[in-house]
Amino acid sequence: MQKSTYNPIGIFDSGIGGLTVVREIRKSLPDVSIIYFGDTARVPYGTKSKDTIIRFAQEDINFLLQHKVSVIVSACFSVSSNALPSIEDDIEVPIIGMIKPGVKAIEGKSYSSIGVIGTQATIESGAFEKELKTSVGDIPIHSMTCPLFVPLAEEGWLSGKVTELVAEKYLSPLVEKGIEALILGCTHYPLLTSIIKKVVGEDIDIIEPGKEVALIIKEFLSNDEMKTNGNGSLQIYLSDIPRGFAGISRNFLGHSVEEVHLVKNLKTG
Ligand code: DGL
Repeated sequence: MQKSTYNPIGIFDSGIGGLTVVREIRKSLPDVSIIYFGDTARVPYGTKSKDTIIRFAQEDINFLLQHKVSVIVSACFSVSSNALPSIEDDIEVPIIGMIKPGVKAIEGKSYSSIGVIGTQATIESGAFEKELKTSVGDIPIHSMTCPLFVPLAEEGWLSGKVTELVAEKYLSPLVEKGIEALILGCTHYPLLTSIIKKVVGEDIDIIEPGKEVALIIKEFLSNDEMKTNGNGSLQIYLSDIPRGFAGISRNFLGHSVEEVHLVKNLKTG
C-alpha cells in the first residue's frame, strides 16, 4: 500500500452503519480526523445488483476524494465484496475494504469451520469464501444472510425476545454445522454482538472486522504525519438526513452527533 501525507481519513458506507467502523478507529486513534459519507438517500445497498453497487461506490469514493482524503475505508461490506475488486486499482489513494481485514482477524487461528453472516449482496458475492480460501485454506465455510438484523439494529432492538428469536432462526443452522468462529460481515451487526453471543454460545469466537480495520489504519499511520496532524474531528456528510437520525447514530457511534452536512449533489460535494 502506498503512503500519502494528506489529511484526513475518508470513510463511507451505504448509510449510517459505517459509524460502527468509525467508532473502532476513533477508539484506537482518537486524534485522527475523519470525513464520513453515508449514502442514506440510497441505502440499502445489500439488496442491489452488483452493477448498481459499483456505480454508487464510485460516486461515494469520488465525493471523498474531493475532500482530499489520504486513505479511504469502504466500511460497507456490500461495497467491499461487490465493487472493490473491480475498482480498487483505479483509485488514487489507498483503499481499505472490510473483507480482507475480516479474514486477517482469523489468520493464525486453526478453526476447523467458520461461519459468515452478511447482506444478500455480500453473501452471494462469495467474497469471504474466496479470501478465506486464499489465506486459511480449504476449510468448511457456512454463510447466511441475515436481512432482519439491519432494521433491528436501526430500531435499537439490540436485546429482547423478538431479536433473540430472529437471531436463533438465522444462526442455529450455523451452530449445528459446528462453526468455531463467526464473522460479522455487515456494518450493523456489531450492535447485536451480545445477543449473537447469547444465541451461539461462548465457545464460538465472534469476529468484528471493524476492529481489525482500526489496527490496519493505526499501522498505516504509524510512520505518517497524519497521526500528529489530526485533531480528532469527525465531519459527517449524508445524502439524506433520515428521520430519527440523532437516536440511531448515537447507538452506532456511542455518542450524539452535533453537526451533519447534507449532500444534495455527490458530484459537486
Ligand atoms: N452497510 C451495509 C453492509 O455492510 C448494510 C446496509 C445495506 O444493505 O446497505 O453491507
